[in-house]
Amino acid sequence: MPMRLAVPNEIFPGERRIALEPNVARRLRDLGLDVCMEKGAALSAHFADAAFEGVSLINTPAELYKGAGLIFKVQPPTLEELDMIDPGAVIVGFMQPHKNEAMLHKMCEKNITALAMELVPRISRAQSMDALSSQAAIAGYKGVLMGADLASVFFPMLTTAAGTIRPARVMVIGAGVAGLQAIATARRLGAVVEAYDVRSATREQCESLGAKFIDTGVSAEGEGGYARELSEQEKQQQRDVLAKHIAQCDVVISTAAIPGRPSPKIISREMVVEMKIGAVIVDLASEGGGNCELTVPGETIEFESRVTIHGPLNVASQTPVHASEMYARNLFNLMSPFIKDGELELDWNDEVLAKTVLTCEGVVKSERYRREEITK
Ligand code: NAI
Repeated sequence: MPMRLAVPNEIFPGERRIALEPNVARRLRDLGLDVCMEKGAALSAHFADAAFEGVSLINTPAELYKGAGLIFKVQPPTLEELDMIDPGAVIVGFMQPHKNEAMLHKMCEKNITALAMELVPRISRAQSMDALSSQAAIAGYKGVLMGADLASVFFPMLTTAAGTIRPARVMVIGAGVAGLQAIATARRLGAVVEAYDVRSATREQCESLGAKFIDTGVSAEGEGGYARELSEQEKQQQRDVLAKHIAQCDVVISTAAIPGRPSPKIISREMVVEMKIGAVIVDLASEGGGNCELTVPGETIEFESRVTIHGPLNVASQTPVHASEMYARNLFNLMSPFIKDGELELDWNDEVLAKTVLTCEGVVKSERYRREEITK
């Protein structure tokens, strides 16, 4: 009998994505899998059940998980979901291991093999499997649209009978995947864009997208292409230069993150006080607490009736069609090399798989997330 792949409805509040889309479902069936989806699970991502040709639609999660050897998810499984999953199953999705100690325990207890999408290594071969990147690109794009919507000015320069309107000034802080997409989107809308990142290697990338790079004189290249944490003196130097630029902006899009750590606080209260009346901050780093001292994650606040500070969470989920399509392709590209004739055979000699595994054979495999490193 072919292996059952189960794709449940995502129950995390506000989650609209699903870990499958019709074309990927067809390709998985072509590999011989028995593809099963919870009935109506894709509706929040705007895919009708009827679009999933040949996929079995199952009424309840308990029935769906029964007998499933492989499970595709977006959000980490809850303990209740894990209760329904067969021992020995393989589950793939975002796992947020640093927040989910009880989940890790249960996975080990039930001998579940968990592959965490946030652990996919950032190497060339794995780019097509990199869900952090695909979802961050969506956040960068959407973050700019949010900023344009909240702003009290146009983004483009407009020459009208009523006079010429100057373009908006947008500043992007953090030029990783989300930040670069934010620069490109703000430029397409006609804004004048400045960008800043602690990694000086990003200067060329920002400039090639049409942004002016702000040089603070602080460079913080860390391991594996990520940023390291800054010293107090470096932070002050960074603040002094940035404050001057932020004071001139109509919209700030901040995306600065340090993996596994709270987001660095880059925009202080004092800087916000100096901003133009009507300016907007879209803090895309809200998931990690935010880059602005005043950000309230998940909320939009008006600071002293002057500056709007927007702290959106799970931004990719707000563009659910393309977010689901890209995510489902990432999952397919990661797993398809190990599926043949409806059977799953994981090859632990594969570098990507070996780095992506979180739990297997009853233990936490990922060195990064062994028990002592998990903060409750
Ligand atoms: P991220 O989401 O971890 O951080 C966003 C940006 O914020 C980064 O560019 C980081 O340097 C910056 N940042 C951190 N602290 C800051 C501070 N105090 N002030 C200003 N900026 C700060 O980054 P993301 O998007 O996940 O990318 C991280 C790295 O991985 C990048 O070098 C990227 O090019 C690389 N990458 C490589 C891939 C591959 O080769 N397959 C795929 C995707 C990313």
